[in-house]
Amino acid sequence: MISLPVIPALAALGLANPVLGRVLERDQDGASQWISVGEGPSFSLSSTNISYQFHVDPLTLDLIHDHWGAYAAETVPDFNGKSGGWSGPYTYRRREFPDLGRGDFRVPAIHIQHADGNTVSAFSYTGHDISAGKPSLPGLPATFGGDEDVSTLTVHLYDNYSAIAADLHYSIFPQYNAIARSFQISNQGNQSVTVLRASSWSIDTPNEELDLIDLSGDWAWENHINRRAVISGEQGFRSSAGYSSHFHNPFFALAAPTTTESLGPATGYSLVYTGSFAANVERWSTGWVRVLLGLNPLHLSWPLAPGETFTSPEVVSVHSEQGLGSMSRSFHSLYRNHLSRSNHTFETRPPLLNSWEGLGANINESAVVKLASEAAGLGCTLMVMDDGWFGTNYPRDNDTLGLGDWTPDPRKFPDGLGPFVAEVTNITVNETSNSGGSGKMTFGIWVEPEMVNPESDLYLEHPDWCLHSGSHNRTLVRDQLVLNVGLPEVQDYIIETVEKILDSAPISYVKWDNNRGMHELPSPAADHAYMLGLYRVIDNLTTAHPEVLWEGCASGGGRFDPGLFHYWPQTWTSDDTDGLERLYIQFGTSLPYPPSAMGCHVSAVPNGQTGRTTPLAFRAAVASMCGSFGFELNPSELDQEETAAIPGIIARQQQINPIVINGDFYRLALPDQSNWPAALFAYPDASSAVLFAFQIRSKLKPLPGPLKLKGLDPAAKYSVGNGTTSDTWSGSTLMNVGLSLQWPSADYESMILLIDKQ
Ligand SMILES: *[C@@H]1O[C@H](CO)[C@@H](O)[C@H](O)[C@H]1NC(C)=O
Ligand SMILES: *[C@@H]1O[C@H](CO)[C@@H](O)[C@H](O)[C@H]1NC(C)=O
Ligand SMILES: *[C@@H]1O[C@H](CO)[C@@H](O)[C@H](O)[C@H]1NC(C)=O
Ligand SMILES: *[C@@H]1O[C@H](CO)[C@@H](O)[C@H](O)[C@H]1NC(C)=O
Ligand SMILES: *[C@@H]1O[C@H](CO)[C@@H](O)[C@H](O)[C@H]1NC(C)=O
Ligand SMILES: *[C@@H]1O[C@H](CO)[C@@H](O)[C@H](O)[C@H]1NC(C)=O
Ligand SMILES: *[C@@H]1O[C@H](CO)[C@@H](O)[C@H](O)[C@H]1NC(C)=O
Ligand SMILES: *[C@@H]1O[C@H](CO)[C@@H](O)[C@H](O)[C@H]1NC(C)=O
Ligand SMILES: *[C@@H]1O[C@H](CO)[C@@H](O)[C@H](O)[C@H]1NC(C)=O
Ligand SMILES: *[C@@H]1O[C@H](CO)[C@@H](O)[C@H](O)[C@H]1NC(C)=O
Ligand SMILES: *[C@@H]1O[C@H](CO)[C@@H](O)[C@H](O)[C@H]1NC(C)=O
Repeated sequence: MISLPVIPALAALGLANPVLGRVLERDQDGASQWISVGEGPSFSLSSTNISYQFHVDPLTLDLIHDHWGAYAAETVPDFNGKSGGWSGPYTYRRREFPDLGRGDFRVPAIHIQHADGNTVSAFSYTGHDISAGKPSLPGLPATFGGDEDVSTLTVHLYDNYSAIAADLHYSIFPQYNAIARSFQISNQGNQSVTVLRASSWSIDTPNEELDLIDLSGDWAWENHINRRAVISGEQGFRSSAGYSSHFHNPFFALAAPTTTESLGPATGYSLVYTGSFAANVERWSTGWVRVLLGLNPLHLSWPLAPGETFTSPEVVSVHSEQGLGSMSRSFHSLYRNHLSRSNHTFETRPPLLNSWEGLGANINESAVVKLASEAAGLGCTLMVMDDGWFGTNYPRDNDTLGLGDWTPDPRKFPDGLGPFVAEVTNITVNETSNSGGSGKMTFGIWVEPEMVNPESDLYLEHPDWCLHSGSHNRTLVRDQLVLNVGLPEVQDYIIETVEKILDSAPISYVKWDNNRGMHELPSPAADHAYMLGLYRVIDNLTTAHPEVLWEGCASGGGRFDPGLFHYWPQTWTSDDTDGLERLYIQFGTSLPYPPSAMGCHVSAVPNGQTGRTTPLAFRAAVASMCGSFGFELNPSELDQEETAAIPGIIARQQQINPIVINGDFYRLALPDQSNWPAALFAYPDASSAVLFAFQIRSKLKPLPGPLKLKGLDPAAKYSVGNGTTSDTWSGSTLMNVGLSLQWPSADYESMILLIDKQ
């Protein structure tokens, strides 16, 4: 027996101490070895480095949160706050699934309106189940794993007053220091109710100093890192754009004020969802912090008829005691291994040329074949035909028309896509770039199937298919409207349309774009209905075509979220391709997302968005830090020096792509904090690494500090080389003394160093 601390508040009430030292229940065959249940009952999901603990309050049968963080052998509930004044007891409890209406005045995780109009809920514990593995979430993307990877606890709650049941799902991934949570609400009564608010994650932390770290931005300015203290009151952010959006990413971390990249506690929260969302942290009078992440109440009001069940999307939380870098690496490997369903996630990606910068909508068979030949000469192995290829009655010559009419424009492609793509894929790639493959060009295509221009056959036929609300005007952005993908007929239309395109030619890559936020919704619930429809559509298409390399895009990173990463292995990171801006965007994006998921291209200078001119080598090094690399420029406008350099750039990028795709990612110096930002990819076995280092401005003083590497074997010797020269150092020297890089006196310099165990 373990001697447990006496809890005076409970002793005074004459209650047995619910603290658990004694494990009452473990799964028989040991498959759920990471979940234990004790008296109370009390629950603990624990592995070597983490524990997540909560218990049932014996008085109210409410769930009380105890701990989420580093490993703890026992559950020690926090003292409840002293009641008094205006608040009932619920305000002074650290709750696990807070409802509203019984004297807890903080923001609730769940808010339901009942048939008579009242919004009081009273969920209480009725039972639980433990299972090895993890059930899928009906209709929603979610992490997955086998019995050896993950175990799941389901806690059953029931509201006696309204006949509503709630099942809370908790899954632990011990290898990744991660807990995934979601819940289901079932209406077992006889009348419809409305789910007004649903936060997939909710806990109340103890009174500790915390910083909130999140990613905000805008179009061409995605994922900039913010860090601020969590002070009294609510702090949060949300997307009301209908999609996860450029404005805020559905991710945040809570960390100690002293936490750095490699030291200190940090807990990340990531919502596996593509629609509007809300994140909220609220520090109460007790100092406790309520942590909520889930659906945006402005876009919910979900009607639940008798017998129906509502499933919340999932939040994945990762805890690290070794700083933000370790948190990121857990997210990266968890998401690559147990969220992405795509075989391409672990595969080297083809270097591509996209037609947009070079040709815009002025494309046709001969122009694209010519571009593909030039791309092949440079060493690209994938030719992507962007916007402008479709539309008959409303030919897509510009943004104003044609979206929705996904048949090749007969003026531009008189024989359709088949013979034209056959011509492209018959082009032999210049072997000097040594980019592997069959030696032939491959072909990819751009689509934006969730959108429609009013000037299109589709809109004339089905004006009711786009989002609209009564007689309100249908607000145009970029001359287009959003199809209501919540409608089954729209889902079927998109599936058939994309199927038809894929059947018409050997297409090995699809860039799926989405270029505006949602407008007038028929009801707030239409956003979530849309997401369920969208997931049905892309589940269908990616299941039928796993060989296709799917790339998400939404005016850049407007939907860079874990929901789409479940289906698509990569996303276009930003429409801003300026090398300097991209450093900030890519470092920020890497907080939750693996670099393997980022699409990054080299474009022409001066940059179209910022007007800045940076050297080709700098732009290429920045883009080579991503899983998918390519060019958005017109090869015929390159000067001789650039044309000569590109095959070498592609050869180097292809050489390091496997480690960028599969390695562990270390942010060594962030562009927000250093004139010499740097990042390193290392294989988990420390056999090799690749260092990316940059000098933003030329500076005489102060000198750059030594660049201390990570992830190496201290006892091993490594060669450190740039392809022409190399030195040998031991891992201990590289990690503890660091490299002193000699930078030329020039702005926008870059180095890619290969580090290999001898
Ligand atoms: C709910 O109702 C059941 C059956 O009447 C009862 O056993 C249980 O104690 C009630 N729970 C609460 C929290 O009132
Ligand atoms: C647990 O922490 C130890 C010590 O920091 C570390 O070596 C180990 O890799 C961690 N395990 C996991 C699964 O993160
Ligand atoms: C639902 O209606 C049936 C038949 O009227 C009644 O027997 C039952 O108690 C009702 N259930 C609830 C939860 O109100
Ligand atoms: C194809 O497009 C190119 C470039 O826009 C143009 O010069 C050429 O005339 C077009 N050819 C045909 C057959 O339309
Ligand atoms: C292939 O690459 C080499 C090396 O850069 C270059 O000299 C040659 O012109 C390229 N061939 C073609 C057909 O573009
Ligand atoms: C867009 O293209 C259509 C079809 O070629 C043309 O009629 C229209 O004038 C163009 N509009 C703009 C704004 O360029
Ligand atoms: C492919 O190219 C070869 C020669 O380069 C040519 O003989 C053949 O007809 C081409 N095939 C197609 C389908 O264009
Ligand atoms: C609504 O659209 C109509 C037709 O395009 C236009 O005449 C009217 O000004 C619009 N109303 C508002 C409030 O934008
Ligand atoms: C995709 O949807 C189509 C049309 O609804 C259906 O016939 C087909 O079976 C679905 N395929 C998959 C893999 O879900
Ligand atoms: C994807 O990977 C799975 C498991 O390795 C394999 O069974 C399947 O054939 C692969 N599919 C493709 C299209 O490569
Ligand atoms: C490697 O570094 C040496 C010495 O600084 C330099 O001369 C050479 O150009 C570099 N090579 C590459 C490929 O950057």
